[in-house]
Amino acid sequence: MTRLDEVAPDIFRISTFFPEGNIQFNQFLLRDEEPLLIHTGNRALFPGAWEAVAKVIPIERLRWVAFSHFEADECGALREWQQAAPHATPVCSYVAKVVSVDDVVALRPALSLDDGEVLPTGKYRIRFLQTPHVPHAWDAGLFFEEVSGTLFCSDLFHQNGDVEPVTGRDVVGRFREVLAEYQAGPFANYLPYTSTTADTLARLAALDPKRLAAMHGSTYAGDGRKALEDLERVLREVVNA
Ligand SMILES: [Fe+2]
Ligand SMILES: [Fe+2]
Repeated sequence: MTRLDEVAPDIFRISTFFPEGNIQFNQFLLRDEEPLLIHTGNRALFPGAWEAVAKVIPIERLRWVAFSHFEADECGALREWQQAAPHATPVCSYVAKVVSVDDVVALRPALSLDDGEVLPTGKYRIRFLQTPHVPHAWDAGLFFEEVSGTLFCSDLFHQNGDVEPVTGRDVVGRFREVLAEYQAGPFANYLPYTSTTADTLARLAALDPKRLAAMHGSTYAGDGRKALEDLERVLREVVNA
């Protein structure tokens, strides 16, 4: 069952809950002159996600499909989206494009953005930040929408359960629970803490986000700077222990 919620003006959260994993998979749609989808979702999610997007825009208008890193929940259904929307172009890091995306999953080649580069979509402006190994993977990057102050933070702030679309509650505490639970099982070392993690997270905090749009869990509305500073501590304590 896929649900659709507007979490900020013209920013929609598309959420599918998998009870087997107690996990939500979220995608975000920006309704703008050049509509942009963040994360394709796994291929199994495509029919439900397609229906949700079609409630907001005519599918064929979808122009950009952005994602953080090469993984099934980030870009697994890219080909399906590109088939449905003839002008849909993937947007990712240069490393993602040349190492995996264009060869494995793109129907038409990706647009890679340089660190700090802005992609205007109309009223919104998407800034790309190259963030290797944050949340994880060499090719990782994150997108910050500057007008609304929304950071699309991929696996950062991962919260389990079928949680509410938007919250002002303690998402860092929920994130700590997930990390601790994963550390004890087959998903151990889900997110690394490397020599550059603190600097990368400080750079994200300095953006002063008003909203943290998580791929798994609620979108946090509140003091994004403080939440990112707290998340750095949690990651250091739990993973780097
Ligand atoms: Fe991931
Ligand atoms: Fe993910």
